[in-house]
Amino acid sequence: MKKIAVVFGTRPEAIKMCPLVKQLQKSTCLETVVCVSGQHREMLQQVMDIFGVTAQHNLDIMKPGQDLFDITSAVLTGMRQVFQQEKPDVVLVHGDTTTAFSSAMAAFYLGIPVGHVEAGLRTWNLRSPFPEEFNRQSIGLVSKYHFAPTQTAKKNLLDEGKREEDILVTGNTGIDALFTTVREDFHHPVTDWAKGSRLLAITAHRRENLGRPMHEMFRAICRILEEFPDVKAVYPIHMNPQVRKIAREELAGCDNLRIIEPLPVDAFHNLLNASYLILTDSGGIQEEAPSLGKPVLVMRDTTERPEGVQAGTLRLTGTGEQSIYTACRTLLTDQTAYRRMSRAQNPYGDGKASARIRAFLERRLCACAEDGLSC
Ligand code: UD1
Ligand code: UDP
Repeated sequence: MKKIAVVFGTRPEAIKMCPLVKQLQKSTCLETVVCVSGQHREMLQQVMDIFGVTAQHNLDIMKPGQDLFDITSAVLTGMRQVFQQEKPDVVLVHGDTTTAFSSAMAAFYLGIPVGHVEAGLRTWNLRSPFPEEFNRQSIGLVSKYHFAPTQTAKKNLLDEGKREEDILVTGNTGIDALFTTVREDFHHPVTDWAKGSRLLAITAHRRENLGRPMHEMFRAICRILEEFPDVKAVYPIHMNPQVRKIAREELAGCDNLRIIEPLPVDAFHNLLNASYLILTDSGGIQEEAPSLGKPVLVMRDTTERPEGVQAGTLRLTGTGEQSIYTACRTLLTDQTAYRRMSRAQNPYGDGKASARIRAFLERRLCACAEDGLSC
């Protein structure tokens, strides 16, 4: 048996790694050890409960107001101990969080091969998103296996000099999850509340947006809700106290808006599916929405997901109040513009990404072990 350590620590990583854990657990030649950093706590547990995944190791590092030094150092030293004890043959990390970066670094220091799930996304701007672009480029540097969700991501990796045989285009494992959650008969108190109205689904949390950009985003949303009485908005708010403070300051008097606690992922996917329009600065939602045919206004200056922009479902608005307001207003008043953005497309996969990663690892690790070749 070859041992695979699957590492994650935040909500989005969990959503995209749990389907892979489930796949790997079916393997007869790979043993899976789930190692979580606990960079998130409640939001992580919520996902693991839905997927029925349990961790063999949990560093439980989260503290309110944690900064990048806190997370980086706690994960680096914590995972050193976990990897030294478990001696995995491969460490799998996901995406671009500080958990993923520090765990990849710990594995690299110990000489353990790293596999990067959701590899090759790039904005080429180290300040946007911050620190995620640095994290993902750095993980790419130390990784042996690169699981790219799209051909565009593969091209980015080839351009950086990665070996073609170490890159596998898989689709995004997040879409594997989406294929299991969306149901036409879904009901939730907030979707019932919004029945008969056009529903805006909102999320916002990016570190570089905390401060003025987030104030501007929320002001734009309030203006829209004032102007369009047939529109209602649901905002499952991130647990970051800084986000909540800005929301309290800007959204308290805003009509037709419900701020709710983070939704379990199955309910959130169904909220997206029930919505008319999505406003977000999230990464993962930019992948989910095109599959559902829901227009997304991406409240950021850059995106590492150009496929969704090319497919027509995503539009970058920047973070200014006026540009967000104008883009949103256009989609609420111009049916042609709305229809152009609401065609369901699937640039991020067919729901089989995890199975492809499992097959690749079995080929590379188990087959190699059998014939005595080093790979
Ligand atoms: C992290 C990732 C970001 C990812 C996001 C997903 C880094 C640097 N950032 O950012 O890439 O997009 O997760 O949501 O890796 N909190 C809780 N309970 C929770 C989760 C968070 O109370 O379950 C609060 C804590 O006070 C915590 C704060 O939120 O200190 C911020 O969490 P943190 O992981 O540092 O940053 P995110 O913005 O969530
Ligand atoms: N999500 C969720 N509940 C919520 C809000 C979002 O399950 O209340 C899911 C969403 O479907 C997506 C992921 O969380 O899969 C995105 O996470 P987030 O926006 O926190 O991080 P990012 O993708 O920006 O790294």
